[in-house]
Amino acid sequence: MNTHVIHRSLRATPPVAVGGEGVWLIDADGRRYLDASGGAAVSCLGHGHPEVLAAMHAQIDALAYAHTGFFTSAPAEQLADHLAARAPAGLTNVYFVSGGSEAMEAALKLARQHFVEIGQPERTLFIGRRQSYHGNTLGALAVGGNEWRRKQFAPLLIDVLRVSPCYAYRDQRAGESEAAYTQRLLDELDATIVAAGPRRVIGFCAETVVGATLGAVPPTAGYFKGVREICDRHGVLLIADEVMCGMGRTGTLHAVEQEGVIPDLMIVAKGLGGGYQPIGAVLAHERVIAPLRDGSGMFQHGHTYLGHPTACAAALAVQRVIERDALLANVRTRGAQLMASLCDRLGAHPNVGDIRGRGLFAAVELVQDRGTKAPIEPAKKLHARIKARAFANGLLCYPMGGTIDGLRGDHVLLAPPFIVDDTQLDLIVQRLSRAVDAALVSLA
Ligand SMILES: Cc1ncc(COP(=O)(O)O)c(C=O)c1O
Repeated sequence: MNTHVIHRSLRATPPVAVGGEGVWLIDADGRRYLDASGGAAVSCLGHGHPEVLAAMHAQIDALAYAHTGFFTSAPAEQLADHLAARAPAGLTNVYFVSGGSEAMEAALKLARQHFVEIGQPERTLFIGRRQSYHGNTLGALAVGGNEWRRKQFAPLLIDVLRVSPCYAYRDQRAGESEAAYTQRLLDELDATIVAAGPRRVIGFCAETVVGATLGAVPPTAGYFKGVREICDRHGVLLIADEVMCGMGRTGTLHAVEQEGVIPDLMIVAKGLGGGYQPIGAVLAHERVIAPLRDGSGMFQHGHTYLGHPTACAAALAVQRVIERDALLANVRTRGAQLMASLCDRLGAHPNVGDIRGRGLFAAVELVQDRGTKAPIEPAKKLHARIKARAFANGLLCYPMGGTIDGLRGDHVLLAPPFIVDDTQLDLIVQRLSRAVDAALVSLA
């Protein structure tokens, strides 16, 4: 097909998507694809939900857009009320943007302005983790720690301090307990803040459960409690990135709930609007916002589409359906089923090193050798082969390379819609394992 669109590949135009029904997407040739990754953990409610469509139609008929420089809107107010009422205690201030990267940019600037307003302008540094992803705009990319994504843009990026990810499968040493491994990571964070100098660090950014770059890696027990304590001791803000793992994906509305900590800033996107409209948000603790309210009286930021009424109406409808239909219970039940089924089907596979995740957020890490955990030769692009074979077989999943260090390692991420049933889960695991085997055979 001739195209003027700059597609993700400049050499190939993907099939045209024309419809969606529940967990299925349909292309222009009538082919049906089982959406086992919700795109990239976006479509939490599946496709074409009638109540979300009705809410969007109603909003568009009334008013599609009004600039936030002049007006607020009922959907934005109601969605913020909804989020604030269900957020970890104190996270009662909501800033609506159009996606995850914008949310991270806003969080970084809000954190910096907070310190300027409380008289600590010497705080200029952020700490991120290796193998993290926080978005592709320059600020978010700078904080992220995936070398492949950063490399050619590195000269344009602000300097960010870097610590290790919490990735027990590869980094917990033989003979080291989980508690000792966790403490080693916490000591590293503490030392990094101390080495930066007193009052130099603004915030520590981390995905609560790491998504795209590592593949559904939950933290070890006590990691975030320890992080919270270190941040408090040094006056550093904890910025939780829940763009991928939040809004119910791990079985609770926010993944931090399972860690027993309250971040200072938390960003959400993807599952907030479920893909019905582009929307993201920063949830800010009252103690972060209060100095701005009492000081300059404004957050010095803004975009044309802040708090877009149609996007907020769509997200509000998505969130109301999830709550009314008790879909987070389904995430927990189906999540346990998905994990059991992956372990059953792939647990003994010679090239499967690890199966992990939380809720309906799961990943399989592939290796050359289970004993040594040696990865498959990166040049073979196993992840791309799996994606292509799964796609040809009507399965949408999210394989990624560079799991270990941005270059080596392969994993496949699954994030099906919260409405997935057990037959569809079986089909996902069946099609995935066939795609993995076909891709491995093609390496030979
Ligand atoms: C954890 C995390 N943060 C931020 C982003 C960026 O979000 P967006 O692609 O909506 O800009 C992503 C996207 O995958 C993500 O997974």
